[in-house]
Amino acid sequence: MIVNSSPYASFEERKQWVAEMVARITRKVRVPHPLLAEVKLLEEEVADLQSLALSFIAYSSSIPAATSASEILRRLETSQFKPKRNAHHLLIPLERRVSQMLHLMDFHQSSPGLEYPINVRVVHGKLSDDYDKKSYPTTTVHSDIWAGEPADTLQMIIPLMGNVQSNICQWYETDTECFELYLSNLSNYPSTLAGLGEVRAIPHTFEVGTLYFFDSALPHQTIRKEGGVRLSLDFRLRRLFPYADPKWVPRMRRERGAYDRYYLFPPEPYPYSSFEQKLDHEIEILEKLGFVEFAALRRREYP
Ligand SMILES: [Fe+2]
Repeated sequence: MIVNSSPYASFEERKQWVAEMVARITRKVRVPHPLLAEVKLLEEEVADLQSLALSFIAYSSSIPAATSASEILRRLETSQFKPKRNAHHLLIPLERRVSQMLHLMDFHQSSPGLEYPINVRVVHGKLSDDYDKKSYPTTTVHSDIWAGEPADTLQMIIPLMGNVQSNICQWYETDTECFELYLSNLSNYPSTLAGLGEVRAIPHTFEVGTLYFFDSALPHQTIRKEGGVRLSLDFRLRRLFPYADPKWVPRMRRERGAYDRYYLFPPEPYPYSSFEQKLDHEIEILEKLGFVEFAALRRREYP
């Protein structure tokens, strides 16, 4: 097993890390690129994730829970989806299912941290007029490290339902000499892009019920092709202990949400029935490990 000591591991180390993950998975895995892999989920996993994601969407959009999936999708086509905060009664069961599935594929062995909550995304095939004014548009080729995310992350995306082909994720490879650029935490990525030289699209599928996982240094973009909406899950794993770098602790306390971002990878069987329980358990572990200051921050940040 690789001992990951630096978030800025080299291209070779990152390739080796992904290869070791792929080797542990007992299911069929496709590897379109050394930093990108795809694995088909089991039917029951997909059905559970769809149902959990729809419940969260319905709750966030004030749609009655009994509404059919097709009706929820139809309504989403003409509205902006805003995930509700503090919906832990739905987000904890979603994390439980995702964590159970990731344990079965042994991801917990190499990833001590998992993002909470698991993000439920509703992505429109057509952009709203103001979208590209965002400082970090996902429609530009980018690495999430440029947008300020931790450099030790593995990203996961699972298309779940809707018109999945209306907007797809496309990954790119480039010459390894440019790799240091991906590992820099730069504030303005369109200008970084100009310095990258040639980037080549990596051929891959984009299908419902497939888990795509990739190293956060791999450049990617969202390509919007037509109307319609795609529902998907996305989240990140940390390959370093999530409290190892104090830099990420202040981030967790920003106004973007008191509770979100990176936590310890939950154990299996999943022990939490509420967010309070998850947090209490996390604080207990941090105190035992001597991370008393971080435990105190966690305690204070909970509303
Ligand atoms: Fe991204």
